[in-house]
Amino acid sequence: MNAGPSTPPHIGVFDSGIGGLSVLRRLRREMPQCAVSYIADNRHLPYGAKTPAWLVERCSALTQHLLERRGAILVLVACNTATTHTIGALRARWPGVPFVGVEPGVKPAIATSRRGRVAVIATEATLQSARLRSLIDEHGRRAELRLQPCPGLADAVDAGDDAAIDALVDEACAELVAAEVDTVVLGCTHYPLVAERFARRLGPDVVLIDTADAVCRRVRALLPVASDAPALGRGALSIEATGPVEGVQRAVERWLGEAVQVVQSDL
Ligand code: DGL
Repeated sequence: MNAGPSTPPHIGVFDSGIGGLSVLRRLRREMPQCAVSYIADNRHLPYGAKTPAWLVERCSALTQHLLERRGAILVLVACNTATTHTIGALRARWPGVPFVGVEPGVKPAIATSRRGRVAVIATEATLQSARLRSLIDEHGRRAELRLQPCPGLADAVDAGDDAAIDALVDEACAELVAAEVDTVVLGCTHYPLVAERFARRLGPDVVLIDTADAVCRRVRALLPVASDAPALGRGALSIEATGPVEGVQRAVERWLGEAVQVVQSDL
């Protein structure tokens, strides 16, 4: 019996704002057949200043929405802060659902570093997490690791505030240059959106590590796209924002280049 083309797998994705678009743009390139629902939880930005308990409650509500109202069968937590503090609780609450998270690329950074001088730039909440501590314990012995917070940068990226972005990137890079690091982990999904500014300030000898490719490989491994998928065409993309829609709309046009109308969420 010919079953005809199957329904495209539906992936739910969320972040505190537009940062997750740095992962979503790769996902759309690598797995274009998949349908995706994305929540920009910008009403609650920044996640980096929230408590772990608050993050678990909020990320559970977003996950429930993606699974029950959007029909996602896999959830991609496109936020380092949310991953480090909530993915264990999400997996425990929905044991049958595959979850993929984003973590600072400590291991690839150490493998890449020529002189063993690595920095992780991330939110305070990520830098203070037990998960980062265990990544460092597991992989960090062969390098000198510098943990560099960058307060305000995720907010500035979300707001598209170029002057604030430049000032904050300058400030962080001055410290990274003084510390003579040769490899920098972009440990917040907002930061790859301004990677070229970091690259300009740090110079060509410093390698920037972004884990979006590895994250997409993990999604692909958990969610093999059906072999008849090319016949399905491009999967639908829906994007909702829990706070102001305009900035998210601008970011979607700029970073994804897809004609999607961002919808106001009631979450
Ligand atoms: N984009 C997020 C991350 O990867 C968090 C930014 C924030 O809301 O503080 O950590």
